[in-house]
Amino acid sequence: MKVDVLLGLQWGDEGKGKVIDVLTPKYDVVARFQGGPNAGHTLEFEGKKFVLHTIPSGIFHDDKINIIGNGVVIDPVVLKKEVEKFEGAGYNLTKKLFISKKAHLILPTHRLLDAAQEAEKGDSKIGSTLKGIGPTYTDKIGRTGLRVGDLESNFKEKYEKKVASHKKILQQMGFKYSLEELEKEWFEAIEVLKKFELIDSEYVINDLINADKKILAEGAQGTMLDIEFGSYPFVTSSNTICAGVCTGLGIAPSKIGDVYGIIKAYCTRVGSGPFPTELFDEVGENMRQKGNEFGSTTGRPRRCGWIDLVALKYSIMLNGVTQLIMMKSDVLDDFDVIKACVGYKINGEETDCFPYEIENDIEPIYVELEGWKTDMSKMQKESHFPTKFNAYLDFLEDELEVPIKIVSVGPDREQTILRYINE
Ligand code: GDP
Ligand code: IMO
Ligand code: MG
Repeated sequence: MKVDVLLGLQWGDEGKGKVIDVLTPKYDVVARFQGGPNAGHTLEFEGKKFVLHTIPSGIFHDDKINIIGNGVVIDPVVLKKEVEKFEGAGYNLTKKLFISKKAHLILPTHRLLDAAQEAEKGDSKIGSTLKGIGPTYTDKIGRTGLRVGDLESNFKEKYEKKVASHKKILQQMGFKYSLEELEKEWFEAIEVLKKFELIDSEYVINDLINADKKILAEGAQGTMLDIEFGSYPFVTSSNTICAGVCTGLGIAPSKIGDVYGIIKAYCTRVGSGPFPTELFDEVGENMRQKGNEFGSTTGRPRRCGWIDLVALKYSIMLNGVTQLIMMKSDVLDDFDVIKACVGYKINGEETDCFPYEIENDIEPIYVELEGWKTDMSKMQKESHFPTKFNAYLDFLEDELEVPIKIVSVGPDREQTILRYINE
């Protein structure tokens, strides 16, 4: 059995949480492979709404295994809050959630370092979620990080040594902080983390593959935030692309199956960095209000703009996407005109390649399509789609050369329409 992958093709917040939850019944296992609590994955069902930061989005289904893989970075404080919230709502997680011993720990001082480094950057700040992601991955690559498995022996000693080195950096940076309260809540939280089975996830996952279990790998962030290929340096610190599944779960490339690439019918970005199709007018504001485009993790307003096919073709190439999923089409239901960026004009030259660096002089080249001007949010079947909406789907499929197999018309689990079902 191969491992299917679901990941974002834009700058994150495409709706991964919702779709993972919708697809979970087809799978035995859902596994996160990278990122950490910078993620905010929203699920809505039966009148309830949950936002997941660390826990995989398959957690609300019975009899499914959820794994936090080695490539993830975990803040026990965030995990504890999630666990308490979901257990308080009546979901028992202990038998469903397993944590890799090789996942790295976000320490309170990683969060402080994130804040100090962002403050130092001034106007060129990345717009980090300030969850300690960058400093934790820095320690991981620098070979001085602490892993979940370290909690099992001499942890205090390892912790003190690491924190002493962080304190030196914070002092050099002149950053003022108070650690005592943060440490207290962190050490309380690791007791909650330790309630879960800490596993050698690479063995567990490969055993599950060999036992013909169906596994879905859940991406966080989006391809355009990938550390290698995203809009560097305005990116996150992990491999958000499909290749990250191999390193983040311990799976051989030959074991990758379908790659679901998820997109919004338009595009958003939160935090700093280039966004060629960003709208600064009332059209962008309409997208933000209608789409409720405010960060699930930080509450920041998301920047909104038209769909960018240059960036999407790049993402599809990097990930080997086999199926597309289009979210939030209902947000464009009232629009007279829909635009799609098919190229960039840079210094008078047209290109359909994503450039090394994006400067302000980039001009998107748009194709205009007619809006469908129909409320699609209650539709249940593809045969109900308006002709002009079908024209948008056909246009995107022709341009991107990948079928759009799922369309989402609202945040609820039920507002999901499958296409190509008779294949
Ligand atoms: P993720 O990080 O990719 O899981 O996405 P987020 O949860 O951060 O952001 C997606 C937002 O859009 C959430 O508030 C979802 O509840 C909401 N959402 C998901 N699909 C749809 C949809 O088809 N239509 C509308 N209107 N909202 C949606
Ligand atoms: P999900 O999984 C959208 C953005 C931040 C910032 C940059 C670096 O919900 O799609 P970091 O905290 O990683 O150092 O921030 O990446 N970012 C996200 N944007 N969705 C996310 O996750 C994000 N996680 C990080 O806003 O610009
Ligand atoms: Mg999100």
